[in-house]
Amino acid sequence: MKIAVLAGDGIGLEVTQQAVRVLEALDLPGVEMTHADVGAVAYRAHGHPLPSHTLAAARDADAVLFGAVGDPTCDNIEAHLRPEQAILGLRSELGLFANLRPAAGFAGLEHMSALRPEIARAINLVIVRELTGDVYFGEKKRETLPDGRREGWDRMSYAEDEVRRIAHIGFRTAQTRGHRVTSVDKANVLETSRLWREVVEEVAAEYPQVTLDHMYVDNAAMQLVKNPGAFDVVLTGNLFGDILSDLASMCVGSIGLLASASLGERRTKFGTFGLYEPIHGSAPDIAGQGKANPMATILSAAMMLRHSFGLSDEAARIERAVAQALADGITGADLGGEHGCEAIGSAVCERL
Ligand code: IPM
Ligand code: MG
Repeated sequence: MKIAVLAGDGIGLEVTQQAVRVLEALDLPGVEMTHADVGAVAYRAHGHPLPSHTLAAARDADAVLFGAVGDPTCDNIEAHLRPEQAILGLRSELGLFANLRPAAGFAGLEHMSALRPEIARAINLVIVRELTGDVYFGEKKRETLPDGRREGWDRMSYAEDEVRRIAHIGFRTAQTRGHRVTSVDKANVLETSRLWREVVEEVAAEYPQVTLDHMYVDNAAMQLVKNPGAFDVVLTGNLFGDILSDLASMCVGSIGLLASASLGERRTKFGTFGLYEPIHGSAPDIAGQGKANPMATILSAAMMLRHSFGLSDEAARIERAVAQALADGITGADLGGEHGCEAIGSAVCERL
């Protein structure tokens, strides 16, 4: 079981260290980890945020454990060398079109949600976000109009096969859960969304056991805050999924708790090749202070065991250990607690 650990920038380093500790505590036979630079760290050391040896290490592995990228000192460098290009490059180069972002409440944490506890308690959804298309990967341009005004543009598009394959993931995910898919789009305005809706309808016909409804993204943002418990699978495009997953994290209580899996079609010996990362970023404001919450990365490692290595029992053990640590009041600054990154990692290892 080859794991490429790409810690990246800011708090990426500290949170992946704790996730690696948790994996080591499981003492699984045959695990081999390699480390490589990514993001601003890689740009400074090798002149590129995603050096070819890092991409090769990721390709060569069965799974990638990813921390975070992003660094304010890189805000003014050329767009294609920004640290964020590393994660976008990995997603597209590795064909990771399906991003699963579960958001479920933890017992005892309801009071930390931005919502009232009785509303927060009910949240148990997964965002199935398309990850290699949409306006993220369309042509981009900066132009000067004839009258001298500057103009920037980004092309938003989806081809039907791109919608179809993520829709299948959405419906299949629903079959393992509550059998409901809410497809989120902006079909009242965007042609991209009108095609999205059409194709999702076509795919839905193959899943008679799953109910489908459609929601405009503005309404979805409202409903997620009003009644998140009403959602099961939220199926959506790259941009809307990015926005709604940050929103969902605040319904749970902290962005430091939300894990993600990015999957494609490549199979490994034990499961599906994937990249696993917390949904939060590099948080440069608290980097290096040992204050970050590593739970989202630890939970991402659990998703890795489940999806890439077929180790569902071990994944569940990690998830229970995290839930238990939270129930025991082991929280960091993001949840109003005093525990540091390493202490949280130790608490999870003890509970394993
Ligand atoms: C995420 C992040 C990334 C995204 C950034 C870092 C490019 O916000 O994974 O949600 O926009 O997809
Ligand atoms: Mg995001």
